[in-house]
Amino acid sequence: MSSNDKHLELSDYKFENNDFLHYFKNLYKDRGLKAFYQFLNRPHRRSYSRSLIKKYAGEGYGLEIGCGARTIAPTERTVLSDAFSEHGVHGSIAKVFFKGDEIPYPDGTFDFLLNEHVLEHIANPIKALKEWLRVLKVGGHIFLFLPHKERTNDSLRKVTSLDHLIEDYQNDVPYNDPTHFDDWFQNVVEKGLMPEHYKHMEREELLNSASIHHHVWTEKEIVELFEYLDLEIVFVDGKVHYRRDTFLVVGKKKS
Ligand SMILES: C[S@@+](CC[C@H](N)C(=O)[O-])C[C@H]1O[C@@H](n2cnc3c(N)ncnc32)[C@H](O)[C@@H]1O
Ligand SMILES: [Zn+2]
Repeated sequence: MSSNDKHLELSDYKFENNDFLHYFKNLYKDRGLKAFYQFLNRPHRRSYSRSLIKKYAGEGYGLEIGCGARTIAPTERTVLSDAFSEHGVHGSIAKVFFKGDEIPYPDGTFDFLLNEHVLEHIANPIKALKEWLRVLKVGGHIFLFLPHKERTNDSLRKVTSLDHLIEDYQNDVPYNDPTHFDDWFQNVVEKGLMPEHYKHMEREELLNSASIHHHVWTEKEIVELFEYLDLEIVFVDGKVHYRRDTFLVVGKKKS
């Protein structure tokens, strides 16, 4: 169990009755009338992730970590969680709040766990992944959608090695670890690759709100990381077609 003194039970969570209505209501809230345009022109976003979840985790309940203002999960059977009620310029649609490395659900609660553009915001990825594996059932799946080093604003930074992640874990670095701040600030913010919004935030505020990308990856390093954690690799997509800056790795918790 995590050190968090809050405990949650799956039976207390109110899942959505209608996944599509939930999706559209939030899209409308976020984008206004542009929601109709986006819905008509980008129909693949939901169907891709949902079909993969259906294929590998056709039954049972899932947990999304860091859903932010939108979710790609089937909401009638996925717990929507986040660490922050606001992140950047967006409010979160999560229904339960906790940090991804201290999950208040019991061991083996979920059949699948997913997140999109979250692990790079977590300073101690191995600590978080071990926690994700704890709440996952044996045979359960982890879906990680992540920004690809070459196709995002991290393109000027170096890829993070597995050895570095192991060191972060051994040093028990906290969620607001400043190690990568200067690298991120110089190679992303000062190069004009982030929205203006971030330029005006204080260093402490950027770190405490998990606004920076601590680490930088391609699918190759995430496969290596999954293998290090003894996950079976079941699917890799180097370029997700509806979000071209993104790759996906799916792993299975072995028995
Ligand atoms: C770039 S946003 C991605 C939001 C959404 N998944 C998407 O793809 O649009 C990063 C998200 O990670 C969440 N986050 C940051 N650090 C976290 C942590 N330690 N545990 C859980 N979520 C975290 C933030 O609150 C935010 O919602
Ligand atoms: Zn690090």
